[in-house]
Amino acid sequence: MPTTAYRDHIATLSARMDRALERSGHDHVLIAAGVEKMRFVDDMPYPFKVNPQFKAWAPLTHHPDCWIAYTPGSVPLLVYVQPDDYWHLPPAPPSGYWTQALDVRVVRQAADAAAHFPKSGRSAILGEADAALPGFVPNNPPPLVDYLHYHRSFKTPYEIAMMKVAQRHAVAGHHAAETRFRGGASEREIHAAYLAASGHTDLDLPYGNIVGLNEHGATLHYQYQQDKAPAHSRSLLIDAGAEHAGYAADITRTHHDGDALFGALVAGVDREQQALAAKVIPGQDYRDLHIEAHLRLAGVLQELGIVKMAPQTMLDTGVSSIFFPHGLGHPLGLQVHDVGAFMASDAGDTIPKPEGHPYLRLTRKLEAGMVVTIEPGIYFIDMLLARLKAGAHAGAVDWTAIEHLRGYGGVRIEDDVHCTTGAPENLTREAFAAAH
Ligand code: GLY
Ligand code: MN
Ligand code: MN
Repeated sequence: MPTTAYRDHIATLSARMDRALERSGHDHVLIAAGVEKMRFVDDMPYPFKVNPQFKAWAPLTHHPDCWIAYTPGSVPLLVYVQPDDYWHLPPAPPSGYWTQALDVRVVRQAADAAAHFPKSGRSAILGEADAALPGFVPNNPPPLVDYLHYHRSFKTPYEIAMMKVAQRHAVAGHHAAETRFRGGASEREIHAAYLAASGHTDLDLPYGNIVGLNEHGATLHYQYQQDKAPAHSRSLLIDAGAEHAGYAADITRTHHDGDALFGALVAGVDREQQALAAKVIPGQDYRDLHIEAHLRLAGVLQELGIVKMAPQTMLDTGVSSIFFPHGLGHPLGLQVHDVGAFMASDAGDTIPKPEGHPYLRLTRKLEAGMVVTIEPGIYFIDMLLARLKAGAHAGAVDWTAIEHLRGYGGVRIEDDVHCTTGAPENLTREAFAAAH
């Protein structure tokens, strides 16, 4: 299917690279996929994670030692390393839509790649230091990298199509996870069901799944999966993604046992989340949207009588940050937290975070072609609640309600939203709707 879209994608990347090379004063670019790294005093490798700058050009995520070599005016060259190896399964011979737009050269050893590199002129070399070949040491020129990082935010139609496939895989996983939660499964069982339904192994995921039952929902990046199910599973906060052709999905849902107060909280966050997602339109300053999220979430806390303060006062006094202590979201694409999030322009200057909001991961104005997450949440985190209790606003809090809600951990609802020149395209809600 994506042959034409992929060709157009390569044409866009090539045009961007032409401008980037002009800016940095180089004649060619070489992009390393990266190398497999060994653990200390061990003969076991770490899982290979490809350089995102490489997988932008070819959907190859399990291919260490490969390179892209591009010179303006030429077809991009892919040096494809297919070693003779009977210990590990080597990459299959190149095939698929992506071979049509690249000049693919197969070599048997990593060192043989250099024979296909330009013989003269100045090369920008993108990659980690340990990807170096003799005479070809990564130099990652900042003017070129800044330009690419900034423009990577503008997804090509091919990239959007790949991200939609990732959404479908993740949604299948989320449905399976919810079913297992309702059946009283452990975190480990829920995670296993997610992997099976989404068609992933742990290593294929764009980030480690966050699968928190009950109080575990209060740990923002809860990293374990317990093998014993609790006696009663009150809530599940599952932040779990998927990857397709190197592009990520990043989705969170919160399920519960029907509790009236926690149910109302989830419904309130969901309502505000959708209102925020509807504002993913060109010209929207993401910093303002983050502040608006504080006010909206504070409104939910006030409406449910959990905190008896006006939303603006909760924001001004830092009370809203006790319950919503992370950023509203981030750019998404080749990386789950994609690059370029703070860039004021393609020249490398940055836009600061609003004071008092150190965890905001995106400060740019939204423009058509960007994909961002919208992930507000309300949590009951002991460490932060202790600060609230010891502070000047403790009297405004219904601590009995908090004590009840602590057992539910927290709520986060996260969708991936495509900013367009028209209405925002909520990739996640569309994928959920299509799955029904
Ligand atoms: N899954 C990590 C995040 O939502 O940013
Ligand atoms: Mn996210
Ligand atoms: Mn997430």
